[in-house]
Amino acid sequence: MARRRKWNPATVTSFAVGFILGHLLLHKESCSLRPTFETTAEDLRTAATPLERSPGPEDDVGKGPNRGKTEDLLFVGVMTAQKYLDTRATAVYRTWGKKIPGKIVFFSSEGSKAPDSQPDLPLVALPDVDDSYPPQKKSFLMLQYMWEKYGRSFEWFLRADDDVYIRPDKMESFLRSVDSQRRLFIGQAGRGNQEEFGLLSLEYDENFCMGGPGVIMSRFTLAKVAQNVRYCLKNLYTTHEDVELGRCVQKFAGIPCTWSYEMQTIFYHNGSGNAAFNGSLKKKEIHRAITLHPIKDYHNMYRIHNYFKMLQVREEKFNRIQVQRDILAMASLLQEKEVLTEEESNNVTLLGKPPGLTKFRPINYSELLTWDFLQRSIYSPSKFNPRMKIGSSLQEGLEDVVREVMDMINMYSKQRGRVIDFKEILYGYTRYDPLHGVDYILDMLLVYKKYRGRKMTVPVRRHAYLQQQYTGVTIREIHLEKESPSDINNTDSSSLTVGIKNVLGKSINKLSRNLPALLFSPHSPLALSHTESYESINDKTINFILPLSGRFDTFRRFVQNFETVCLNNREKVSLMVIVFPSEQENTTQRIVDTIRGLQKQYPNTQIRYVSLYENFARARALSVGATHYESRDLLFFIDVDIVWRTEALRRIRRHTLSGASVYYPIVFSEFDPQRVYRQGVSPDNFAITERAGYWRQYGFGICSMYKSDLEKVGGFNTSIVGWGKEDVDLFEKFVKIMPESKLRIFRAPDPDLVHVYHPVTCNSKLGEEQMAMCKASRADSYSSMNLLEEELRQRAHNGVR
Ligand SMILES: *[C@@H]1O[C@H](CO)[C@@H](O)[C@H](O)[C@H]1NC(C)=O
Ligand SMILES: *[C@@H]1O[C@H](CO)[C@@H](O)[C@H](O)[C@H]1NC(C)=O
Ligand SMILES: *[C@@H]1O[C@H](CO)[C@@H](O)[C@H](O)[C@H]1NC(C)=O
Ligand SMILES: *[C@@H]1O[C@H](CO)[C@@H](O)[C@H](O)[C@H]1NC(C)=O
Ligand SMILES: *[C@@H]1O[C@H](CO)[C@@H](O)[C@H](O)[C@H]1NC(C)=O
Ligand SMILES: *[C@@H]1O[C@H](CO)[C@@H](O)[C@H](O)[C@H]1NC(C)=O
Ligand SMILES: *[C@@H]1O[C@H](CO)[C@@H](O)[C@H](O)[C@H]1NC(C)=O
Repeated sequence: MARRRKWNPATVTSFAVGFILGHLLLHKESCSLRPTFETTAEDLRTAATPLERSPGPEDDVGKGPNRGKTEDLLFVGVMTAQKYLDTRATAVYRTWGKKIPGKIVFFSSEGSKAPDSQPDLPLVALPDVDDSYPPQKKSFLMLQYMWEKYGRSFEWFLRADDDVYIRPDKMESFLRSVDSQRRLFIGQAGRGNQEEFGLLSLEYDENFCMGGPGVIMSRFTLAKVAQNVRYCLKNLYTTHEDVELGRCVQKFAGIPCTWSYEMQTIFYHNGSGNAAFNGSLKKKEIHRAITLHPIKDYHNMYRIHNYFKMLQVREEKFNRIQVQRDILAMASLLQEKEVLTEEESNNVTLLGKPPGLTKFRPINYSELLTWDFLQRSIYSPSKFNPRMKIGSSLQEGLEDVVREVMDMINMYSKQRGRVIDFKEILYGYTRYDPLHGVDYILDMLLVYKKYRGRKMTVPVRRHAYLQQQYTGVTIREIHLEKESPSDINNTDSSSLTVGIKNVLGKSINKLSRNLPALLFSPHSPLALSHTESYESINDKTINFILPLSGRFDTFRRFVQNFETVCLNNREKVSLMVIVFPSEQENTTQRIVDTIRGLQKQYPNTQIRYVSLYENFARARALSVGATHYESRDLLFFIDVDIVWRTEALRRIRRHTLSGASVYYPIVFSEFDPQRVYRQGVSPDNFAITERAGYWRQYGFGICSMYKSDLEKVGGFNTSIVGWGKEDVDLFEKFVKIMPESKLRIFRAPDPDLVHVYHPVTCNSKLGEEQMAMCKASRADSYSSMNLLEEELRQRAHNGVR
C-alpha cells in the first residue's frame, strides 16, 4: 500500500464538515453519532486526516514485523481478573481466542494462576496489580507489557475485555484493509453522555475509544502510550479507564479515536446489559459486527461462537452449491458424457441446477406444487382451516430470508451512497419443493434512502423471487443427554433444522428421537432470481370471458361487481359474455338488455356478447369467446358465481405472463349461508374462515392465460359438453407440456376471488364421470365439517329427548 504523505484537500474538507456536524449532534443527542456525515471505514483506509500523518523516521518506534504474515498480524491483550479465569477467560480462549491471526494473552492480577480446567491458558499475572475496579493500572501496565514484549512482533494490538466476542476472520480482513504503518487508534468513539461529558475533562475536539467493544492500536500508537505510562497513570482525571487511555493517546500520539459512524456497526455494543446476546442471535447488527459486547454470561460466548460457526458452515455449503452449478454448466458443454460418474452426475443434476422456480416438473396435475399465499396470515389449500396464523417456524424462515435479501440488496450501498431498509412484506407466496428447496415470492415495501448527493427518502415496492436451495443430505447425530455448556462441539442444531421442520413435518420429530437424524439443511443457497419494480405490469388489459345460461339475478350481481371493481376504477378490462338459451326466453332477453345498458354507460370499455343457440357446453363457450381475441391478449375465464376485488386483478396480471406463466387461482368457495349464518346471503363474501368456506382445490375453471399459450396446448376439447371436466382437461394439457416448455403453472389461493354459494342441481343428462364430479362438488359446498358435526350432535341430542 502506498503511503500518502500529501493532504487531499477534498477529504480534509469533508472530514471537517463531518466533524462539525457530528460534534453539534453530539451535544444535542448525548452519545449517539448520527449517519448525517459520511466518514466510513473506507475513509479510514484511504484518507489522511489533519490530525494524523504517517510516522516518519523521527517517530522512534523501531521496525515492526514484515507485513502480510498471518501469525504476525494481531496481538490481543485480554484484561481479566482471577475470579473470571475459569469462566470468561476460559470461554474466550476456547472460542474466538484460538482463531486469532496472531497471539492472545490474558492479563490478571499479581498471583493469578491458570485454572485447572485450562492449565495452558496464556496468562500474565501483572506484578503490583490487583483486581480492583476501575482497572486503570492493569490496563496501562498491560499495554506497557505488550509493547515491551511483543512490540516488534505484531502489526496491530487489541485491548480487549473478557466479555467481548471477536470474529477473527472478519477482524483479519478489516485490519488488512488498513495501513498499519499509520498512527491509528480504532474503536467506537465516545464522548460520554450529556451529564458525563462535563466531568470527563475532555476538550471540545477530544474523544476516547469506548473500552468495552475493544480498542485497536497500530504499533506507533501503542509505543507512544507505553513510553508514557508513568505520566498517564499519574495524571488521571476520571475513574474511567477508557477515557484515560484516550487522553493518553491524544496527548502522546496526537490522534483521537476514529471518528466514524461505521465503527458503531463494527464495534457493536448493546446497551441492554445482562439481556444482551441472551436471546436470538439472528439480527443484522450481530451479523455485521466484528466485535460484540457485552457478553455478561460466559455461556453465551460458546453460543455465539457456535452460531458464527454455523453461519460459516452455511457459507461453505453455499460455495459447494456454486461449484456444483459450475460443474453442471461445464458438463453440458463437454461432448463426452462420461466425465462424471453416475453418483457425481446425480449429485450435480440435483444440486447444480441454476436457481429457478421450475426445477420440479410434475407428471400429472396431482403432482403440481401449489403455493401458499401469505398476507399477515397464511392461506393454504392443504389445511382444513383456510386462513391461519403464520407459525413461528415460517415466521423465522421469512425473517431469515428477508435479512439475507436485504444484505444482497445493500451489498453495494456504500459505493452507491444509499441504503435500502426493509419495512414490511405486503404479501407473498411460499411453497416447498421436497427435492430442491423452499421457494418464496415476496412483495416487499422498502425505504430507499440516498445520503450522498441529493438526499432523498422514498418508499419503494419490490417483488422478489427467491429460492432457498437444499444443500444436500447430511446425517447428524443429535445427542439427547444434557451437555456441558462448555462443550464447544455442541452446535445448536435447532437453528439448522428450522425450516426443515416445515418440510418434513412430524416425521422429523420422529426421526430425531432415533439417533442419527436425516436432515436437509436449507439455507444460504438463497438465490435471488430477480427483483422487479412493482409498477411495470399494471396496464395490461384483462379480457373477461363469461359463459352464461340463465341465472339472471346472479348475472346482475356479477355485473354490479364488474362495475364497482373494474369500470368505476378505470381498470383496463373488457368483457365477453357467451349467452346460451335459457328455459325462459324472457331471461335471455333481460341478460342482453343488461349488457346493452352497460355498453351505453361505458362506451370506452369493450363489452360484448355472443349468443349461442345450442345446449350449454362450457368448453365450447370459452373457445368461442377466445376466437374474438388476438394471440397477444390476456384471457381470464370466469364463472358467473365469482365475486372479486381489485387485488385479484393485480395478481392475474402478475402471474399471467406470455409464454412463461398461466395463472390457476384457487378460489375460496362459500358454504351455504343458510347453514353458516342462518340467512340467505352471506354478510361478507370475503370473510375467509373455516366456518364460511373452503379452498376449491379441485376447481380448475377459473384461470387466466395468454391466448397464444392456450393455442400452444390446442385449446379446449370442445367435444366435452355440459359442465365440468373441460377445465381439468385443459389444466392437464398445460401440465403435460411443462417439461419441455418454459411455461409454468402458477397455482395458489387467491383470497380476493370468491365463489358465492348457490344450490347445485346436477342435471340428470350428465355423463357418469361428470355426474360424480357434480355430486362431489355439491357435497363439498354443503357445510364445513365442524358445522355438520355440530348439527348431527344437535339432532342426536334432540332424538334422544
Ligand atoms: C438468559 O436466557 C436464559 C435462558 O433462556 C434465561 O434463563 C435467563 O434468565 C436469561 N437472562 C437474562 C438476563 O435475560
Ligand atoms: C440489545 O439486545 C437486546 C436483547 O437481546 C435487544 O432486544 C435489543 O434490540 C438490542 N439493542 C440494540 C441496539 O441492538
Ligand atoms: C453425493 O452427495 C452426497 C451427499 O451430499 C455425498 O456424501 C457424496 O460424497 C456425493 N458423491 C459424490 C461422488 O460427489
Ligand atoms: C400422477 O402421477 C403419479 C406418479 O406417476 C401417480 O402415482 C398418480 O397416481 C398420478 N395421479 C393421477 C391423478 O393420475
Ligand atoms: C471437538 O471435536 C474435535 C474433532 O471432532 C475433537 O478433536 C475435540 O476433542 C472435541 N472437543 C470437545 C471439547 O469435545
Ligand atoms: C318477462 O320480463 C318482464 C320484464 O322485462 C317481466 O315483467 C315479466 O314478468 C317476465 N316474464 C316472465 C315469465 O318471467
Ligand atoms: C376430447 O374429449 C372426448 C370426450 O371426453 C375424448 O373422447 C377425446 O379423446 C378428447 N379429444 C382430445 C383431442 O383430447
